[in-house]
Amino acid sequence: MTPTDLHDFLRTRRSIRRFKPDPVPDAVIERILTTATYAPSAHHRQPWRFAVLTDPAAKEKLATAMAIEFRRDLTGDALSEEEINQKANRSIDRIIGAPVVIVLCADMSDMDAYPDERRNKAEYSMAVQSAANAGMQLLLAAHAEGIGSVWVCSPLFAQTSVRTALALPNSWEPQAMYFIGYPVGIPEPRQRKSIKEITKTF
Ligand SMILES: Cc1cc2nc3c(=O)[nH]c(=O)nc-3n(C[C@H](O)[C@H](O)[C@H](O)COP(=O)(O)O)c2cc1C
Repeated sequence: MTPTDLHDFLRTRRSIRRFKPDPVPDAVIERILTTATYAPSAHHRQPWRFAVLTDPAAKEKLATAMAIEFRRDLTGDALSEEEINQKANRSIDRIIGAPVVIVLCADMSDMDAYPDERRNKAEYSMAVQSAANAGMQLLLAAHAEGIGSVWVCSPLFAQTSVRTALALPNSWEPQAMYFIGYPVGIPEPRQRKSIKEITKTF
């Protein structure tokens, strides 16, 4: 692979939100997860954890639990009953409709602990950043397999519900989930900010 090929590969990953119902073979899921774990992590502590859901009943349990919390938040936002139903049902449908759902968690168990809040906060950020690296690598590994994926942030808003629904260890803190499957289509690339806009050079 030439550098140009690699840049092209990295730039052609898209967030895929519509999937064919075809299952993703277990061996492919394992390969994607293995590549995800080659991401860099703070102190090489590898604080990422993954809950992999392919069983429809497990997906439904997760979706239902998350929807209860979602509804509570939306009620607090003073949305109409109809809007709440629409959003909650869409969230359920998306989870159930994804051939594979992978919940990414961060685990502080192997990270350093400090006597002060400032450094504990930095250490926590390091764990979350490390887990996010694995998440990004997971998306790229799926792309390498011709498999579509999308990063979904909603577990961050329903951490306890996700942990309880999936009976995850207490130390697993849900950070994100990924929907994975064979894409129905590839959307057009989204416009990026110019390098000039986001960079200061010295
Ligand atoms: C931290 C994070 C959270 C995201 N949350 C969601 C989400 O909840 N739902 C969704 O459909 N896409 C979500 N996305 C995907 C972004 O919308 C997408 O990456 C962005 O629009 C750029 O499109 P592209 O990935 O096709 O280049 C998220 C991405 C990141 C990195």
